[in-house]
Amino acid sequence: MDNKIFASLKSIGAYAPKKILSNKDLESMVDTSDEWIVQRTGIKERRIASDDELTSDLGVMASKLAIKRAGLKTRDIDAVICATLTPDFLCMPATACIIASKLGIKNILAFDVSAACSGFIYILYLAKSLIESGVHKNILIVGAEKLSSVLDYTDRGTCILFGDGAGAAIVGVTTDKREAILDIQISADGDYAHLLMTPRSRATHPKDEKTLEYLQMAGNEVFKVAVKTLTSDVIEILNKNNIKSSQVNHFIPHQANLRIINAVREKLDFPIEKTVLTVHKYGNTSAASIPMAINEAYEDNKIKKGDLLLLDAFGGGFTWGSSLIYFGGE
Ligand code: COA
Repeated sequence: MDNKIFASLKSIGAYAPKKILSNKDLESMVDTSDEWIVQRTGIKERRIASDDELTSDLGVMASKLAIKRAGLKTRDIDAVICATLTPDFLCMPATACIIASKLGIKNILAFDVSAACSGFIYILYLAKSLIESGVHKNILIVGAEKLSSVLDYTDRGTCILFGDGAGAAIVGVTTDKREAILDIQISADGDYAHLLMTPRSRATHPKDEKTLEYLQMAGNEVFKVAVKTLTSDVIEILNKNNIKSSQVNHFIPHQANLRIINAVREKLDFPIEKTVLTVHKYGNTSAASIPMAINEAYEDNKIKKGDLLLLDAFGGGFTWGSSLIYFGGE
C-alpha cells in the first residue's frame, strides 16, 4: 500500500476591519477622483484597521475561523507561520509569536516571513514542506497586514491602492492526492528591490528624511514587471504539471489592480467567471490578499472540496509565486 502523505489546504478564514475608506473619502484627502481610481485600478473601497487593532489582531480573527473550519482545537496546531510586511514590531517579537500567544498556543514553532505580496505563497510552500517531511501535522499559516500604518495619505500614487486585512489557513495531512497541494513554485529577484519598499532600517539609514518613513513605489514600472511575471509564472506551473487552464476551477490572483489581473487572465484565456475578484472592495492587502480572496469564494459557496485552485502572486523584493491546489476543506 502506498502510504505517501501530502500537504492539504484544509480550511480558510479571513477578517476585514469594519472601517471603510471609499474613493470618495480619498477625494477629500488627495488630488484624485473616484473615476480615476476605478478606471486605473478597479478599486472602489478598502478597509482600515482602528488605532488599537494591530496586524496580529487581524490575524487572530482570521485564524479563529480557519481553525474552526478545519474542525481543530488550538492545541492541535503545531506551527504558526505569519507572512506580513507590517509586523506589530520591527523584527521582534515575530507577529506569528504574538498571534500564537493571543490564541493560547504555546511551545511550538512560530516565525514570520517577509515576502511582501507573495507572502502567502511563500508560507504555503514552507508549510507544505514541513508537512510532507512528516514532522508537522497541522500548520496555521496567516497573511496579515495593517498597510495603513506605512502609507503616506498625501501621496496619491500609493495611498489609493492598499488596505488592511488578514487571511489564514490550516495546512494539514492527506493521503489523497485529489485533495492535496499539487505544486508550488516561488522565486525572487532583488535587483528590483528599489521599485517597491517600506521604510528603511534606522540602523543602516539613520539620516533618512521623513518621507522615507512611508511605503515607496514606482507604480508604472512595478505594473509592467508584474504583468509579465504573473503571466509567465502561471504558464510555467500549468505546463510543468501538464494541466490546461480550462481544467482550473478557480483562478485566484493577487488582488493589486484589476488591469493587472485582466491582462494575465486574458493572456491565459481564463473567463472572468472563473477568476476570483475582491480588489474592488479591499484594494491590495498584500500577504492577506490571496487568502482573503479564497475565503470570499469559499463563503460564497463557490469553492468545494477537490476543486482545482490556481494561485498567482507578485510583490516587493521582487518576489513571486504560484500554486496549484486541490482544495481539501469541507
Ligand atoms: N489620481 C489621479 N491621478 C493620478 C493618481 C491618482 N490617484 N495617481 C497618479 N496619477 C496621475 C499621475 O500623476 C500621472 O499624471 P501625468 O500624466 O500628468 O504625469 C497619470 O496619473 C498617470 O500616471 P501613471 O503612474 O502612469 O498611472 P498608471 O496608469 O500606471 O496607474 C498605478 C498608476 C499606481 C495605479 C499603476 O501603475 C499600478 O497599479 N501599478 C502597480 C502597483 C502595484 O500593483 N503595486 C503592488 C505590487 S504587489
